[in-house]
Amino acid sequence: MPAISNLGATTRTQPLWSPDKATVVFVLGGPGAGKGTQCQKLVADYGFKHLSAGDLLREEQDRPGSEFGEMIKSYIKEGTIVPMEVTVQLLENAMKSSMDGGNAKGLFLIDGFPRKLDQAHAFERTVVPSKFTLFFECSEAVMEKRLLHRGETSGRADDNIESIKKRFRTFVETSMPVVDEFEKQGKVVKVSAERGPDEVYDDVKRLFKQRGVEPITLKFVQTQEA
Ligand code: ADP
Ligand code: C5P
Ligand code: MG
Repeated sequence: MPAISNLGATTRTQPLWSPDKATVVFVLGGPGAGKGTQCQKLVADYGFKHLSAGDLLREEQDRPGSEFGEMIKSYIKEGTIVPMEVTVQLLENAMKSSMDGGNAKGLFLIDGFPRKLDQAHAFERTVVPSKFTLFFECSEAVMEKRLLHRGETSGRADDNIESIKKRFRTFVETSMPVVDEFEKQGKVVKVSAERGPDEVYDDVKRLFKQRGVEPITLKFVQTQEA
């Protein structure tokens, strides 16, 4: 089945799930702030399903026969935001298949989304309202250094200095208004992302606890010896 069968998601008038059926934490921060790195850690300790909007877009771009492949490619290279109908539909499809595949609690980290106000509004109106946004604060100098280093091995078409500068501009002009809007609603958890990954993660865990999100506790069943 194609990854996007139709783009109907954003025309619904009701959310598909209520917040008690699906818990969504948005993960935002500039390019290279460490969103993916921290999400991997959270997946291991909290049982979240990690959905990176950028990864889903790259997958759709590379899917043979995709009618959106060429369009996605040019938006990514230019560091601009792909029209939200495509991204919201990809996320909804991935959430459905995760829930069908055993993510019964519906715990999701949605990484790199929403990056524009229209995406935020469409997702919360038609898919599910978010619980809160985890926001990684990082200077452009540090992000640039990390991205150029990542670019040595990532193979990504946008980990080069020209695309990086464009992505920084999009982040400031288009994505920060999303963070500002959620902040006014008291729904932003801010973490300084300039230290090492483990130190950043210690802060993330502490702040998740404050928001009532606890790690998975492994229960060992004691077996009786005969
Ligand atoms: P994002 O998903 O926000 O673009 P990534 O998690 O891919 O960022 O991280 C960008 C690059 O920086 C990767 O090469 C990653 O290994 C590295 N990195 C991530 N977090 C840190 C950190 N706290 N300190 C140093 N390097 C980091
Ligand atoms: O998050 P990541 O760095 O992987 O995103 C790569 C690119 O994918 C962005 O620069 C942008 O062009 C596109 N994107 C988007 N909308 C999103 C997330 C990513 O258009 N919500
Ligand atoms: Mg990433």
